[in-house]
Amino acid sequence: MSDSDNTEQKINEAIANPKNMGEMADADSVGTVGSPECGDMVRMWLKFKETDEGKKVIDRASFQSFGCQTAIAVASVATELLAGKTVEEAQQLEATDLSADLGPLPPMKIHCGQMVEGALREALVSESSETSGAEIDSAEERNDTLLDSFAAAPASNLKKGNLKVVKLDE
Ligand code: FES
Repeated sequence: MSDSDNTEQKINEAIANPKNMGEMADADSVGTVGSPECGDMVRMWLKFKETDEGKKVIDRASFQSFGCQTAIAVASVATELLAGKTVEEAQQLEATDLSADLGPLPPMKIHCGQMVEGALREALVSESSETSGAEIDSAEERNDTLLDSFAAAPASNLKKGNLKVVKLDE
């Protein structure tokens, strides 16, 4: 079986049984991005905890994705990968790391992984900018649906390579 067949099979398996899909009501932070080119959107929620050694790590991650099956597959494996990572470790992860379990994505689908990376970065920014209760409240307030966000859209653009990812919150 070729690499691309293998990747396609793994993507199909992840889509058939996505892990950690859905809103997280008690999330500490949330990040949402959209791609103007394909119109797809990804939102990621993070919940943190402190380890026995006093390290702050990601306890759980969950996601929602509208429009793109590959982004669902990448977000599924990414949210599994993120559990137990420190904020610093999570910040080092790029799209290729997040989607590594699926194998190399076909060129047309690389931006799907970058969308997941963008949503993670947004969630990490909202976490590192402020970890107070106020931020948690605002994360909860932002637990509206992706479609609501899409309607509200505009916002600043996060440029990364050829990918234009639009930050949808704030
Ligand atoms: Fe645009 Fe997958 S086709 S995120």
